[in-house]
Amino acid sequence: MDYGKERVVALVDMDCFYVQVEQRLNPALKNTPCVVAQYKTWKGGGIIAVSYEARAYGVTRNMWADDAKKLCPDLQVARVRESRGKADLTHYRDASVEVIEVMSRFAVIERASIDEAYMDLTSAVQQRLKSLTDQQIDPQLLKTTHVQGYPEPPPHHEESAPDAATDKEEQRSKGLQQWLCSVSGVDGCAELQLAVGAVIVEEMRAAVEEHTGFRCSAGISHNKVLAKLACGLNKPNRQTILPLDSIPELFNSLPISKIRNLGGKLGASITEMLEVENMGELTRFSQAQLEQHFGDKTGQWLYDLCRGIDFEPVKPRQLPKSIGCSKNFPGKTSLVTRDQVQHWLYQLALELQERLTKDREMNGRVAKQLTVGIRQLGDKKPSSFSRCCALARYDATKISSDSFAIIKSLNTAGNHQAA
Ligand code: CTP
Ligand code: CA
Ligand code: CA
Repeated sequence: MDYGKERVVALVDMDCFYVQVEQRLNPALKNTPCVVAQYKTWKGGGIIAVSYEARAYGVTRNMWADDAKKLCPDLQVARVRESRGKADLTHYRDASVEVIEVMSRFAVIERASIDEAYMDLTSAVQQRLKSLTDQQIDPQLLKTTHVQGYPEPPPHHEESAPDAATDKEEQRSKGLQQWLCSVSGVDGCAELQLAVGAVIVEEMRAAVEEHTGFRCSAGISHNKVLAKLACGLNKPNRQTILPLDSIPELFNSLPISKIRNLGGKLGASITEMLEVENMGELTRFSQAQLEQHFGDKTGQWLYDLCRGIDFEPVKPRQLPKSIGCSKNFPGKTSLVTRDQVQHWLYQLALELQERLTKDREMNGRVAKQLTVGIRQLGDKKPSSFSRCCALARYDATKISSDSFAIIKSLNTAGNHQAA
């Protein structure tokens, strides 16, 4: 089999997930510009999810609801529930379990966040290919599928005016058919496997919508990095195949930060050290050069990655690895007395106790370690300090007193005062 094309991997991500959960609870919000915001006390609350109708007005995550209403006067605002004085995401977690349950009927999945999951479809695809005697795929089975890089643009010297005028659906269907022709009937063509994978994902997404009412998008390619990238190319309610031969063109103008795991520090250091902006520019460097700058492991990984190759396996895992909760106290609201710190630690511990107990009942497992993180005034990172200790019992009083003991050492006021 062709190098880098051994597997079929998909990533499914729910469209504006928290918004869809609120829309299902309150159908009056459907098909409207709407957002989900948390807390009301400051500027109408902070926006954490935005419907596609609202995005058309320029509304984005992290805006204040009051500011968003200036851009879109008809904006509807759904509120995150609060309990114990903090945001309560239970609804969204429960909705996530519903979605994951449906997806799991189709493939072994790796839950990657509250609203997305990876799946390795290689063996499912091989099964289907056996019964596909003519090695042809009917485009009718791929009604919401785009193929990145197709239709291929006409050569520069040709007249391209008629194409420019055609609409998105026409382009989609033309590109799909063009690509299907190029991969069909070729015995053992690795890219044909992507087409079969996309058929399975169409079925999975239809089942998710049928059973939960939620819509999603997906990416289908040969590895996790490409599947994730592909998923974002035609949102919402669409899926995108990313064939390996479309990578050079796509990576030519793709900022490094758009790639999974390169959005943060590593991506920034690549841009700085090598003076490159786009993923494609990395192909100019030899493997030895990349290893010299970033170490053997990362260097090798980057050398493959800028060519669209990544070997990270899909790990079968449906449950989150950890259960955590947090609350921010920005600016003037920051906690300044021991009593305040103890009060909030206890509220967080109560939520943990409740969720841990539910998790033990539902999933038959027991947490053994407690990690406490805090952020001090002026810190840039969400958590600048973190330590852990054993978690012996699911008991809020014990959890909060252990947590307090852990963070006590940071108190510069001395431990005998209220401050
Ligand atoms: N979320 C959040 N804070 C973040 C990122 C995500 O609260 N910093 C929540 C969002 O409210 C969102 C869900 O996690 O609904 C999934 O996030 P994401 O997939 O990034 O965005 P969506 O809102 O689902 O929008 P999209 O359609 O672009 O996927
Ligand atoms: Ca999403
Ligand atoms: Ca997501």
